[in-house]
Amino acid sequence: MFYQVYIRSFADASGDGVGDLAGIRTRLPHLVDLGIDALWITPFYPSPMADHGYDVADPRGVEPTFGDLPGFDALLADAHAAGLKVTVDLVPNHSSSAHVWFAEALASAPGSPARARYFFRDGRGVDGSEPPNNWPSVFGGPAWTRVPDGQWYLHLFAPEQPDLDFGHPEVVADLEETLHFWLRRGVDGFRIDVAHGMAKPDGLPDMVPAEDTGLFADDGPGDLRFDQDGVHALHRRVRAVLDQYDDRMAVGEVWVFDDERLAAYLRPDELHLAFNFRLLTADWDAASLRSAVEHSLATVEPTPAPACWVLSNHDRPRHVTRYGGGELGTRRARAAALLQLALPGVAYVYNGDELGMPDVDLPDEVLQDPIWERSGRTERGRDGCRVPVPWAGDAPAYDFSAASDTWLPMPAGWGPLTAQAQAGDPASMLSLYRTALALRRTSPVFAGADVQWLPAPEGCLAFRRSGGLVCLVNLSGAPVPLPEGEVLLSSEPVTDGAVPVDAAVWLHG
Ligand code: NOJ
Repeated sequence: MFYQVYIRSFADASGDGVGDLAGIRTRLPHLVDLGIDALWITPFYPSPMADHGYDVADPRGVEPTFGDLPGFDALLADAHAAGLKVTVDLVPNHSSSAHVWFAEALASAPGSPARARYFFRDGRGVDGSEPPNNWPSVFGGPAWTRVPDGQWYLHLFAPEQPDLDFGHPEVVADLEETLHFWLRRGVDGFRIDVAHGMAKPDGLPDMVPAEDTGLFADDGPGDLRFDQDGVHALHRRVRAVLDQYDDRMAVGEVWVFDDERLAAYLRPDELHLAFNFRLLTADWDAASLRSAVEHSLATVEPTPAPACWVLSNHDRPRHVTRYGGGELGTRRARAAALLQLALPGVAYVYNGDELGMPDVDLPDEVLQDPIWERSGRTERGRDGCRVPVPWAGDAPAYDFSAASDTWLPMPAGWGPLTAQAQAGDPASMLSLYRTALALRRTSPVFAGADVQWLPAPEGCLAFRRSGGLVCLVNLSGAPVPLPEGEVLLSSEPVTDGAVPVDAAVWLHG
C-alpha cells in the first residue's frame, strides 16, 4: 500500500506556504495510523519549478524550498523507524533547461558534443524556421523550441524540460549515478516519470494525423513520442542497478493501454510495477470498471508483477470530482476506495484522497500549471487537484502551513474535511480508509492473487478473492440485495438486507 506525497501540498514545516521534507516528517504518524506501507515522494530536487519539480536542474540534490540532504536523510531514518518504506521520483526523460548540461549545450555550437546529450536539430523550410518534425508537446504547442543560432531542441513537455538523448552513453551513465546516489542513502525504490518515454525513433519521423479527426494519436502505435521498443533496454539498465541492492523496487509511470505492450515493461529484468491507469480513466459504471479490472489483471498475468491500482494522482482530477463532486462524488469515492482496496496487488493512494478531497475551482490568476499558458488558456491544467491537504482547524491554511497564504489558495469551509475533524468520526472517509487498510493488512480473506467474478444484479460488480473476501459494488441506480455472508465493511450503512445505490460492501462469503 503506497501513499503518494505531492511534496508542495502535503505539509509545510518552514512556513513559506509550500510543503517540504520536514513537513512530511511531522506527518508520519498520520501515515502510520492510516496503515500504509510505503511513500512515494514527488520530486524535491533543485528546480526552477517550471513544472513544479519535474524540471530537474540537479537530480542529486535538494531544492532549498523543500529542505536539504541532511533533512532528507532524517526523514528517511524517521520513516524507516516507523516501519515505512520511502520511494522517490526519478525523472530521466528530460532535465530542466537550468541543468548545467543544457547551459553548456546552449553555449556550444550546432553539432558540438555538448548538444548531443539532447535532441538539437536543424529546422525545416527554406531558412529552417519550421520545427524539425510535427510532434506536439504534451502540454500544448509544438514539441520544439528554436534557439538563437537557429537550431531547435525537442521537449515533449514544457520548453524548460528538454528531452535527453539516451543514445548518448553519458546520459545513461548519469542516470545510473543518480540511482546509486539515492540507493546508497537508503531509499527503497523509485517511481519513474514518463517511463514509456526516453527512447525516440531513429530520424524523429513525423507523426501521422488520424484520417477522420486530423488529430495525433496520444496513445498507441501512432504516437511516436512514446512506447518505442528501445525503451526496454534502458529499463534493463535501471533494473541491473536496483538488483545490486537488497529489496529495492521501481514502479513506472507507463501511459500504455495495450495489455501486451504494457506487460513488456514488467518482464523479470525490467520494472517491478507499472501503474495501471485504467481504473483512473474508467467512468463510474459497471462495464467500464469491470473492463478496467479485467485489463489490469490480464496485463500482469504473464508477468512476475502484481497489479498496481491507481484512482487518483497529481495529474488528473481527483476521483471525488470525476465521479460527480459534492455528496454524490464523495459517496461514489467511498465505494471506489473499497473496490480498489479489495483488488489483489498493490494500491496507490494520492495524498488527501483518504480525506475525500475534491478538486478546487481556482481563479485564473492563481493558476500555475504550464498547461494553462501553453494551451492558450483553454485548458486549466492540473492545479485543481494539487491544493494543499487540510490537517486541522477551521480556516486556511488548516494547519498545512503557518502561513495562510499557501502556494495554491485553500478554500474556506474545509474545516469538516480536515484530518483532525475526521479522525474521531467513524463515518468519515478517513475512518473508512483506516478500517479498510487495517482489514486488508491483517485479514486472511485478502489472500490470493485471483479475482473470480460472481453473478450480480445488472449494473453491479461482484467478485470473490480466493481467501474468501467478497466485494460488491452497486452502480445499478437502485438498492440491491445484500449477498450472503458476514459484512466486514461497507461504504454506506447496509440496512434491511440491501446494498444502497453507489455503495460497496465487503463480506466474508
Ligand atoms: C508525469 C508527471 O506525473 C507530471 O506531473 C509531469 O508534468 C510529467 N510527467 C513531465 O515530467
